[in-house]
Amino acid sequence: MSKTHIPFFLLWQLLLLLAAVPSRRLLCHAAGGQWKFLLRNIGISAMHMQLLNNDRVVMFDRTDFGLSNISLPDGKCRVDPNDSALTTDCTAHSVEYDVASNSIRPLMVLTDVWCSSGALMPDGRLVQTGGYNDGDHVVRVFRPCKTCDWQEIGLGLIQRRWYATNQILPDGRQIIIGGRRAFNYEFYPKTGSTKLYNMPFLVQTNDPAIENNLYPFVHLNVDGNLFIFANNRAILFDYSKGVVVRTYPQIPGGDPRSYPSTGSSVLLPLKNLQGAAIEAEVLICGGAPKGSFRSAGSNNFVGALNTCGRIKITDTAPQWAMETMPLARVMGDMVLLPNGNVIIINGAAAGTAAWEYGRDPVLKPVIYRPDNPAGSRFEVQNPTTIPRMYHSTAILLRDGRVLVGGSNPHMYYNFTGVLFPTELSLEAFSPAYLESGSANLRPKIISSASQTKIGYGKQLTIRFTVSGALNAKLVSATMVAPSFTTHSYGMNQRLLVLGGNVRTVGKSTYEVVVTAPGSGNLAPSGFYLLFVVHEAIPSEGIWVQIQ
Ligand SMILES: *[C@@H]1O[C@H](CO)[C@@H](O)[C@H](O)[C@H]1NC(C)=O
Ligand SMILES: *[C@@H]1O[C@H](CO)[C@@H](O)[C@H](O)[C@H]1NC(C)=O
Ligand SMILES: *[C@@H]1O[C@H](CO)[C@@H](O)[C@H](O)[C@H]1NC(C)=O
Repeated sequence: MSKTHIPFFLLWQLLLLLAAVPSRRLLCHAAGGQWKFLLRNIGISAMHMQLLNNDRVVMFDRTDFGLSNISLPDGKCRVDPNDSALTTDCTAHSVEYDVASNSIRPLMVLTDVWCSSGALMPDGRLVQTGGYNDGDHVVRVFRPCKTCDWQEIGLGLIQRRWYATNQILPDGRQIIIGGRRAFNYEFYPKTGSTKLYNMPFLVQTNDPAIENNLYPFVHLNVDGNLFIFANNRAILFDYSKGVVVRTYPQIPGGDPRSYPSTGSSVLLPLKNLQGAAIEAEVLICGGAPKGSFRSAGSNNFVGALNTCGRIKITDTAPQWAMETMPLARVMGDMVLLPNGNVIIINGAAAGTAAWEYGRDPVLKPVIYRPDNPAGSRFEVQNPTTIPRMYHSTAILLRDGRVLVGGSNPHMYYNFTGVLFPTELSLEAFSPAYLESGSANLRPKIISSASQTKIGYGKQLTIRFTVSGALNAKLVSATMVAPSFTTHSYGMNQRLLVLGGNVRTVGKSTYEVVVTAPGSGNLAPSGFYLLFVVHEAIPSEGIWVQIQ
């Protein structure tokens, strides 16, 4: 009656409004992920992070930093006459974070680990290399165990390594590439080769006044060669012969992407591993335009780059495809998520890396979906409240969260009177796939042993449950290598998609049969997180060791 008097279009608008408001709110919430503080104060600033296969994360900053906010245990002190800040220091500069108990244990590191690099060995030990001052030739080993601590090997390196990049190799050694005024590479452990090898590419890409090719982006290609990107260009390098196999075109625009113009880089998920020709793609995002570092020195903070370059590194005549991010970013971390998406997190919208040179924190992460059509790959996420500037980090945890820490753009621990105080906190970002709305789609791996050994090319049966309806076509398993992360770059980060056939074995219980990667070129021996993914919702991971 009275309703019939309401013009139809108004009623329609009202209906649209009613329908849209709650669902839009729901969507925004569902798509944006959630932030949570884990610990307000871990005592140090998490400048370097590595997840170990016991779900503990080793973190460290520097020893020549002054007093941290966490004491060494049992009244221990470090006495170092060469330390430039304190010759006797009873505080810790490395800690171990236990994810399960959300707690910290102080560790003793004897020499300076500042701006160093590392990788996990096939047996799960962290081998970290170099640093500064009395630590620049040191190799340090950390074995995953509840009470373990650092062991240091004095002259483990031939060359001082500061701002170098490490990559684990198919033969179980690490290659250590570059660093400040180190235009060469070496291997660790020193089995077989104890030599230093020159790398002219690092000379060619270096501007001596800026040193703008540090922490080069290194990815092990599926053919066993190394993709190495420094400054604004890349090569494919055969380290066994010391020859450049392919020279990639310069990234369009020519702006630098490595330190101090710090962008970030990932090897995109490797798929179709049983195919005749396996393809590999690299994605490099953000950075700072040419000249930004010098400008920052005179208090002019240039806007960061808002582009990503994507290139198929296995092509014989590859070309960069450029994409525009919704937010410009320098010092962003790129983290591979278990479902094959990439999150770009932390960093700033102006300035560069290095002390006091970043401005305009970017608080919102962005998710990149590599399989979507170009133009619909990025999605802005909910913001944090904590700027994560220079010396911040982000890594993937076994439960699918992203652990975020660090940020210290100062020469010391500076908590007051500065633009971006030294951050001692840890946060976690939970992508939308962890929300309870997805619980009925989320697989749960049922596994008798928590740690499983898998052989190259072997079939693997993974049993899992899904409480809701299963879409068998949209089930896969993924394997993720945990990264050594520092300076916005996750070394050794790698994700393999293992397609497979699903069969039903009981009520809400299924098995997916997958084939493990066929070689160490695809997946260097070591510990990986194995996930079952259903409709882009990942399970919790389990640790597997491929060998
Ligand atoms: C850490 O900081 C708190 C708060 O400022 C202080 O009370 C505490 O003594 C500090 N601890 C150490 C070991 O420096
Ligand atoms: C301090 O540095 C000097 C010169 O590099 C070196 O010979 C000495 O062993 C160092 N001392 C310690 C305790 O590291
Ligand atoms: C940071 O702290 C150090 C040592 O406490 C102090 O000398 C320095 O002036 C501080 N830096 C800034 C930028 O406030």
